[in-house]
Amino acid sequence: MTHPEQTPQQKREHADPDEGSRPLPWFLTMFLGAMAMWGAFYIYATPSGEESSYGDQRTVAALRPPVKVAGAAAAGDGKQVYGSKCAACHQATGLGVSGVFPPLAGSEWVVGDEKILTHILLHGVAGEMAVKGAVYKGVMPAWKTMSDDELAAVMSYIRSDWGNQAAPIKPDTVKAQREATKARNEPYKGGQELQSGS
Ligand code: HEC
Repeated sequence: MTHPEQTPQQKREHADPDEGSRPLPWFLTMFLGAMAMWGAFYIYATPSGEESSYGDQRTVAALRPPVKVAGAAAAGDGKQVYGSKCAACHQATGLGVSGVFPPLAGSEWVVGDEKILTHILLHGVAGEMAVKGAVYKGVMPAWKTMSDDELAAVMSYIRSDWGNQAAPIKPDTVKAQREATKARNEPYKGGQELQSGS
């Protein structure tokens, strides 16, 4: 870039520095490429459903929620339904609130006739009913908006916790009682009407 008019001092100067593009060194590019390929291969080649020698060794199958068996009410689901729909009144302990909400633990209604229990749940109760020797006169809401499965599950749950020991109730039973009492659109008027079996 010499120019006739440049002075000797100018010629002595270095050229102005300029910023060129500086590519990654080739070995780094190749290294990164090799890493990416190895990573892809590793993911592709690692079996994902088998028991792993890493972590807590649970398999994919073990992490899946349990499959529901048709016809069997899962007590686990029942506990969840109970927690969200019933515990506010009957309490998580199943002991209820003295004088206001009757206990389910040790209740003759809970472990008794499955049809009557199903009637209580489907249509509710508003009137006098005796539970474990104490008379309650409150309002038990109707739960007929719940599915047969859900009702069977929650009833099976309350029949098996807090020391209660009664056989689970099948969704078919709920279905049959729903059909048998479909004309009813008001709560039972108390223990006596429930016992009469209508
Ligand atoms: C708003 C409060 C309330 C909720 C929520 C409630 N109950 Fe009740 N339940 C009552 C009352 C009050 C009675 C007593 C009714 C009466 O005195 O006529 C009762 C009675 C009962 C009875 C018969 C009496 C006994 O203690 O055994 C059962 C069984 C029962 N409830 C189960 C349930 C289940 C299961 C759920 C949830 C799906 C539920 N209840 C939700 C208030 C409630």
